[in-house]
Amino acid sequence: MWRAVARQGDLPTAGAVPVLRLPAGVGGAMTPYYEAGGITIYHGDCREIFSALTATDLLLADPPYNYKLNYDGYTDDLPRDEYARWCADWFSQYSGLASKTVIFPGNGNLDIWLPIKRPSGIGCWYKPGNPSSSSVGFDEWEPWLYWGVRLGGSSVIRATVSKQGDTGDHPCPKPMALISMLLVKTKATSVIDPFLGSGTTLFAAKKLGIPAIGIEQSEKYCEIAANRLSQEVMELV
Ligand SMILES: C[S@@+](CC[C@H](N)C(=O)[O-])C[C@H]1O[C@@H](n2cnc3c(N)ncnc32)[C@H](O)[C@@H]1O
Repeated sequence: MWRAVARQGDLPTAGAVPVLRLPAGVGGAMTPYYEAGGITIYHGDCREIFSALTATDLLLADPPYNYKLNYDGYTDDLPRDEYARWCADWFSQYSGLASKTVIFPGNGNLDIWLPIKRPSGIGCWYKPGNPSSSSVGFDEWEPWLYWGVRLGGSSVIRATVSKQGDTGDHPCPKPMALISMLLVKTKATSVIDPFLGSGTTLFAAKKLGIPAIGIEQSEKYCEIAANRLSQEVMELV
């Protein structure tokens, strides 16, 4: 258990932006795993934690794609109809929490996502020279779906995939440049990420001075994220 911080009053821009707050009287299950400077991590299943969260500006979700990756404690290999129900299930919980939404659906899952809720737009993450394969091959791009967003600038973001030194053995951390650009393009003033993984969203939000909450089912990944957050902020990407 990461024990460094437990202060809610540290928000970097409190008063200027919507502030994420927990309801009074929330019990031990909602004790943050990590909290500092307006950045909070909860360890647990996002579907169980969501009811205790309050509204935020941006929902940024990078869920498992059902590509059979080895996440610590989560089976990324559901029957397809079960995976589709799971996506619809958590999306119906979380989309009501935010006025803007961005989701990475994975290239092989657009048929699942488009019927769940027609997006206002589809952005492109261009990842030249993508080194990793998946069940659908070596794509050099991935879609991101968005709702409720008027983008600042182009809907194409170029960010290469390369090993980041501080993401431990998490199988698929997103590039920091990609997530930072998304926060900027969506003009996010606060953010919640229900599938935190190695903590990229919170790390990018911290660098940009945006209050943020992340939820992750694996304690090992929570620790990786907390350790990343304890680094000094050096440069944007
Ligand atoms: C695609 S990864 C996210 C990677 C992240 N964007 C990053 O940059 O590191 C999806 C994450 O969701 C987590 N996860 C799966 N089911 C979950 C659930 N029900 N609640 C919370 N986290 C979950 C997995 O453990 C995994 O770390």
